[in-house]
Amino acid sequence: MNITITKPFMPPYAEFQSYLTGIWEREWLTNNGPLLNELELKLKEHLDIEHLLFLNNGTIALQIAIRALELEGEIITTPFSYVATTSSIVWEHCQPVMVDICPDTLNIDTSKIEQAITQKTTAILATHVFGNPCNVEAITAISRKHNLKVIYDGAHAFGTKYKGISLLSYGDVSTCSFHATKLFHTVEGGSVTTADPDLLKRMALMRNFGHVSAIEFGDVGINGKNSEFHAAMGLCNLKYIQEILTVRRTLSERYMSKLEGLPVKFQKILSRADYNHAYFPVIFDTEAKLLKLVEQLNLNNIFPRRYFHPSLSKLPYVHEQSTPIAEDISPRILCLPLYHTLSVEEVDMICRFIKRDLRYG
Ligand SMILES: Cc1ncc(COP(=O)(O)O)c(C=O)c1O
Repeated sequence: MNITITKPFMPPYAEFQSYLTGIWEREWLTNNGPLLNELELKLKEHLDIEHLLFLNNGTIALQIAIRALELEGEIITTPFSYVATTSSIVWEHCQPVMVDICPDTLNIDTSKIEQAITQKTTAILATHVFGNPCNVEAITAISRKHNLKVIYDGAHAFGTKYKGISLLSYGDVSTCSFHATKLFHTVEGGSVTTADPDLLKRMALMRNFGHVSAIEFGDVGINGKNSEFHAAMGLCNLKYIQEILTVRRTLSERYMSKLEGLPVKFQKILSRADYNHAYFPVIFDTEAKLLKLVEQLNLNNIFPRRYFHPSLSKLPYVHEQSTPIAEDISPRILCLPLYHTLSVEEVDMICRFIKRDLRYG
């Protein structure tokens, strides 16, 4: 059996099937169905967030957020994230301006944001990388001082709390991804959350082609809707979220205890965060060491992933920008397998390979 970077959480089949029975009876597959509404309600309750829209993925969530906030010109962002963070900015005809990351937290270095602000800057789009909270206080202060909007790419942030509240409650808009690779998933899916009811209305309109009624259109929209099948998966999985988070914590602590003392670095989690253990990234001294280890692991059917490489400042459609820290870390960082059915014994085995490789390689 392969050990891959992640495997989706699979709820008991019978539970999913019972939702299917209802879908068959209602013959209502998509377009604001009852399961979608139930999921939105349950997610709002669970996250203790007032406004949330369930969308078809986390990329559309970013694009809708950028559109709804009417952003143009330059958006300050991070070079260390998944490509969708940058591509969404470019897709919406804005220019990504990369600010380097903090080498410990791997999030945007807020002490460098102000020097990147120009007359054209309209927003900050920062990623809570691997579910680790950005310095949200500093970002709020900078955005107020310079009158900028804030979007958080919270694709990894489900389940993390900062100062006791969901990380998805920060910013003008927070987005999330519920893709099958994420700890809470709906197969494909995502969300936008906001405290602003007007913004919510605009994003809801955009999610559904701009329809105000069957024959009236209020704004340019897109198809950001999600289906009853995806909502059903979300409803099944949400029941297990505590168990999912607990297992991830146990496995991450096991990795940490077994890898302690080796010449590797770990991501520093912001203090006062209740972290979701979305990923287990390890930073090596050199890319050569990482590549040698990956080869060894692959030979043993273990498949970690190089999140995130390359640095987004190197994308072919982004103007050349210098972010030396991101460019230095990206080739040296590896995410180790982490998923609900991964066993402690498998973690121990992966750690033995790493130890052997680093000590005797
Ligand atoms: C940081 C980040 N942003 C955005 C996305 C896009 O989410 P989705 O795959 O749901 O479109 C991802 C997906 O993996 C991600 O990791």
